[in-house]
Amino acid sequence: MLEVYLRPLVMSDLPRVLEWSRDEAFCLANGWPVGLPAEQLQDWFVRLLNNPPVDLVRKGIVVTTPEHPEGYLVGFVDLRELNPLEKRARLRIAIGDETHRGQGVGFAAGLQMLGHGFSELGLERITAEVHSSNSRMLSLVEKLGFKREGVLRQHETRQGIKEDVHLFGLLREEFQPPRDEAWLEKLTSS
Ligand SMILES: CC(C)(COP(=O)(O)OP(=O)(O)OC[C@H]1O[C@@H](n2cnc3c(N)ncnc32)[C@H](O)[C@@H]1OP(=O)(O)O)[C@@H](O)C(=O)NCCC(=O)NCCS
Repeated sequence: MLEVYLRPLVMSDLPRVLEWSRDEAFCLANGWPVGLPAEQLQDWFVRLLNNPPVDLVRKGIVVTTPEHPEGYLVGFVDLRELNPLEKRARLRIAIGDETHRGQGVGFAAGLQMLGHGFSELGLERITAEVHSSNSRMLSLVEKLGFKREGVLRQHETRQGIKEDVHLFGLLREEFQPPRDEAWLEKLTSS
């Protein structure tokens, strides 16, 4: 069985991030061009680890299977634009390659990060912004319990096409935390 937990990123994760930089969907989600030079990514990664932006919480997504009980990194999940005054942030999830998508990993990671945001960070509202072509993320945010709050029409150009961006929001009192909280121990103990 596949299990998912979150942990901080570490320097030895860099080779995985370099692999993901060749995946189009991953790069689009991060706002990167595909195939950024390794040196540029390394500089960015070192800065991220040593001097992370104050308004960003980023956790690595780790999957364990019976064959890989030690677990391996498959992507990361963010709470971005953290606003402590308004107690809100924006969720973003990026799984590094197609082989790990569509298996419930994004859902498990999203649920855990929402739990972290609402319970540990004291947030009251978490938002998400999803491009209209991203049907998987659109399904995922609704499955996580987000409510549709609006649409920014023809808001961003992706691959030469102007796309709508759908706005979602989830309030603390609307969030259904997972019943099994073992993941929270792993997340907070690292
Ligand atoms: C978007 C993303 C985070 C979703 O995570 P995931 O692990 O692939 O998604 P899950 O397997 O948890 O699926 C969640 C829901 O999406 C839907 N879904 C799964 N695969 C789908 C597909 N190919 N097309 C449409 N919907 C799909 C299902 O409704 C699923 O719910 P279900 O398990 O009840 O069927 C992940 O695919 C990803 O990182 N993609 C590239 C980067 C990206 O687009 N990030 C989002 C930036 S806002």
